[in-house]
Amino acid sequence: MAPQPLLTDKDAPIVIIGAGIFGLSSAIHLAKRGFKNITVFDKQPYHETLYDFDRGCDAASADCNKIIRAAYGHETWYQNLTFEAIQDWTSWNESLAKGTDLPPGMTTKDRIYVNCGNYHIGDEKGANGFEELSIKNITAAGHGNTQYLLTDPKEVTRARRDGLNAAIDPFNRHKGQDRLSGHLDMVGGFVYADKACRFALHKAQSLGVKFILDPSAGQFSRFVEEKGVVTGIKTADGKTHPAALTIVACGGWTPTLLPELDGLCETTAGSVAMIQIPEGSPLRERFSAERFPVWHYKMRGGANGSLYGFPIDERGVMKLGYRGTKYTNPALASTSDKKTTIRSTPITKYTSPSIHTLPAKSVEVIRGFLDKYLPELGAANLKVTTTRLCWYTDSFDNHFVIDSVPSKPGVVVATGGSGHAFKFLPIIGRFIADRVEGKESDMLDRFFKWRSLKPGEKAHNVIMQGKESPNALQNVPMSEERDLDLGQGYRAKL
Ligand SMILES: *[C@@H]1O[C@H](CO)[C@@H](O)[C@H](O)[C@H]1NC(C)=O
Ligand SMILES: *[C@@H]1O[C@H](CO)[C@@H](O)[C@H](O)[C@H]1NC(C)=O
Ligand SMILES: *[C@@H]1O[C@H](CO)[C@@H](O)[C@H](O)[C@H]1NC(C)=O
Ligand SMILES: *[C@@H]1O[C@H](CO)[C@@H](O)[C@H](O)[C@H]1NC(C)=O
Repeated sequence: MAPQPLLTDKDAPIVIIGAGIFGLSSAIHLAKRGFKNITVFDKQPYHETLYDFDRGCDAASADCNKIIRAAYGHETWYQNLTFEAIQDWTSWNESLAKGTDLPPGMTTKDRIYVNCGNYHIGDEKGANGFEELSIKNITAAGHGNTQYLLTDPKEVTRARRDGLNAAIDPFNRHKGQDRLSGHLDMVGGFVYADKACRFALHKAQSLGVKFILDPSAGQFSRFVEEKGVVTGIKTADGKTHPAALTIVACGGWTPTLLPELDGLCETTAGSVAMIQIPEGSPLRERFSAERFPVWHYKMRGGANGSLYGFPIDERGVMKLGYRGTKYTNPALASTSDKKTTIRSTPITKYTSPSIHTLPAKSVEVIRGFLDKYLPELGAANLKVTTTRLCWYTDSFDNHFVIDSVPSKPGVVVATGGSGHAFKFLPIIGRFIADRVEGKESDMLDRFFKWRSLKPGEKAHNVIMQGKESPNALQNVPMSEERDLDLGQGYRAKL
């Protein structure tokens, strides 16, 4: 049976809090369904800062690049959604290339999506269980020609014939050999995240969506309630904005705004390191997206794995991310929340000047990988130029959360990205619109609905451990170094 629609009047005001991917995509899809009075609020003035972390945008969506991969092991529902999203990413590229409706500041030379493929390796020779399942299921979906298990010399020959000479051995570990290591998956690659958000914002505006992006006028202050129903929001400038429906899509800040999410979602940080490759260096070509794929090292490999990296971006910056340890920042909840809970909340260099480096464990894994797999960087005397804690919202089962909030009529939440939602930017809003319109949806029903950990159910992400969590930032040693010299391992070998 289809759920009740939450809103039928297409002229009724809808407030969306958050202009990251969940908020942007909700706005686009609701506008396409005919809703005419949608306003998106964010405290970040994104029309000026352009989703650039260096200009103060510390949301997870505001980033230089994000991975696009369809390899999802047995989770073929996400695999299928990725194939759908890639069609849209490709058409966004094409629309930019045509230049008929360019977002401010973008040109026909800009591209959003780059199909450079994904290379998966671990320290073992063959594919791990997850990779084997992904290959089987992508093949079953009719895309077997995009998959290369490089421990098989026949697959190496096929990859060479397909012109993938550089991508099959991105770490130069097997020069001239027939039997390589790893799994090359030529589906996907990455998107330029900041440009993708700018494109989506522009698209939403073209569809009539209003945006209030401002540290005061766009900053949520509290919900306005009448007889137990949320009827709008108040912003930091003191203004009240009536809403027939309020959609909360605040990424890492969502649990702080909606304490009802306790036990379902928690804010956690991944570690990001960036290396500026100087202009004129031969490494610029070596690590360009034309030659170098997105890579994944020991995915699902615990605290010493779950590392990934990108080709260099247009500024010559190489980005690496580590999610093998997901850090929390447990703090006493704000007093407007009637309960006195300890809840994790984002802390970035823009909210706290004391955050200028990464936890020591992140540095150990990142440096260990670079020393072994990319010693060229150390040999060129390069250093990590920027580090960042990137705050996501994890759900206990790693699925997104898109539903009305049971104890808060008038409010819908769209969050729980769990570090894998960005790739769905063009399509995720469809599920929010389906929920609003009361449309039947397998994904909403099976995965995204409001839920709690059942007795005996094993959590994919162990959350809400409070101040005792071994991964709470207060409990982990931070690195002493501001910029990480990458040459240590390299020089030790000399
Ligand atoms: C994914 O798509 C394939 C067809 O390409 C289909 O056989 C499979 O049932 C789909 N999986 C899910 C979970 O929808
Ligand atoms: C956009 O992506 C598609 C698919 O990878 C690619 O064919 C196209 O060249 C890209 N467009 C631009 C402008 O780079
Ligand atoms: C994914 O592949 C595995 C191994 O071949 C298979 O058992 C499973 O049914 C596939 N999943 C789906 C949903 O097709
Ligand atoms: C990670 O590596 C360290 C040594 O660097 C080792 O002590 C530890 O047991 C490893 N942890 C896991 C989960 O494999």
